[in-house]
Amino acid sequence: MIKAAQAPDEEPRVPVDLRQAAAQLRKVAAEAAHCERCPLYRDATQTVFGEGPIGALIMLVGEQPGDQEDRAGRPFVGPAGRVLDEGLAAAGLDRAATYVTNAVKHFKHEERGKRRLHKHPDRGEVQACRWWLDRELALVRPKLVVALGAIAAREILQRPVVLAKTRGKVFPFADRHRALATMHPSAILRMRDEASRRQAFARFVDDLREAVRIAKAGK
Ligand code: URA
Repeated sequence: MIKAAQAPDEEPRVPVDLRQAAAQLRKVAAEAAHCERCPLYRDATQTVFGEGPIGALIMLVGEQPGDQEDRAGRPFVGPAGRVLDEGLAAAGLDRAATYVTNAVKHFKHEERGKRRLHKHPDRGEVQACRWWLDRELALVRPKLVVALGAIAAREILQRPVVLAKTRGKVFPFADRHRALATMHPSAILRMRDEASRRQAFARFVDDLREAVRIAKAGK
């Protein structure tokens, strides 16, 4: 049988619609770099847009970039990111197979001497940033969204969330998406003692494992 010749440098066969979605997402990210939808852009170094593949199994949504993310321009690369990476590894999920983003794309903080202290975004700031999250959702089309912490969960589910009651369960939202909430990795870091941190981390991993199971089951 004669096989079609294949150029050695031929690109891997990525379906056209995936490539189109990836190109659109890059365009959206470039637009977000100039976002002035709320005042947070003024004090932040840059927009920290999401990153990861189109069609990711899971989209992880945090609250907002922290100090290190603001400088690096990438989500979850600081201390909370290290906890997230450890949690994903323990749950058997490769971060490269996930899309990682935040509900708010600019770092909200206050300056205390040389330090920049995190401040929670308010409702208006989170709602203004929903514009970008909706575009990420529509283009990435993850099997499941995992909300990290109450602020992300509230924004995704569009209602107040008590994390203790909501975590680990799946909720439909915006017609065709599904979300599961868990705690924010920073909350684990803030725990007072090692025993509490260990316990919280184990629950975090359980939630991530459940998310993987649900996303893979596709229902
Ligand atoms: N906390 C978040 O919610 N997101 C980040 O990207 C980093 C820390």
